[in-house]
Amino acid sequence: MARKLAAGNWKMNGTNASLAEITALAKAHPDPNCDVLICPPATLLSRLAEKTTGTAIKTGGQDCHAASSGAHTGDISAEMIADAGGSHIIVGHSERRADHGETDADIAAKTRAVWNAGLVAVICVGETLAEREAGQTIDIVAGQLAGSVPNGANGDNTVIAYEPVWAIGTGKVPTLDEIAAVHADIRDRLTTRFGDAGNDMPILYGGSVKPSNADDIFRVADVDGALVGGASLKAEDFGGIIAALERA
Ligand code: PGA
Repeated sequence: MARKLAAGNWKMNGTNASLAEITALAKAHPDPNCDVLICPPATLLSRLAEKTTGTAIKTGGQDCHAASSGAHTGDISAEMIADAGGSHIIVGHSERRADHGETDADIAAKTRAVWNAGLVAVICVGETLAEREAGQTIDIVAGQLAGSVPNGANGDNTVIAYEPVWAIGTGKVPTLDEIAAVHADIRDRLTTRFGDAGNDMPILYGGSVKPSNADDIFRVADVDGALVGGASLKAEDFGGIIAALERA
């Protein structure tokens, strides 16, 4: 059985003042029955990790370089994120794929770097609106999974996040049947390729998850949690999503 995870991705948002949200979140959810992760911008990672010490909240990075160190101005490595107190790293977010031209092979290399640093990779996949309208959703997601998830993935080192690109930050969400179809197909491919380990990898849904739609989404089979952008910035909103996952 996959563990449940509520993961927040702050993207390029948050300053020192935002840490107050984490204090409030930790206070409201001292002992959740699911994993809780916040991925702040790299500038806040170590301060957030200090703030969450002794709480149920884990911290993580939003991206990393595939190398462990070297002449890569502006980049950070998985080792650095581990050193700052991170436990997870998001790789292959659609904004990285689109804004930085990251390929499936890049994402597989980053995933191996995450594992080498002893951390958990949150590997993102998802189709664009044009791909969905062309009836290619399952094929696109299958191709991204095959190319981005390296051999050796298991429930301890890997989380999959299905995020339709057109649902991210738009307020648009697929129907529950559409989410169910993609998650069932992902689960099927993971178990075909990885055997029992494929059942242990959490599959998160991401894209406009809010407290008001989280209960319905979490009732869908093979949805083991959420990767949340906008609604993870406020303790009250993210707390509502955590509470829904606890009820699921
Ligand atoms: P959103 O972002 O919740 O703001 O739609 C989700 C994501 O990009 O992970």
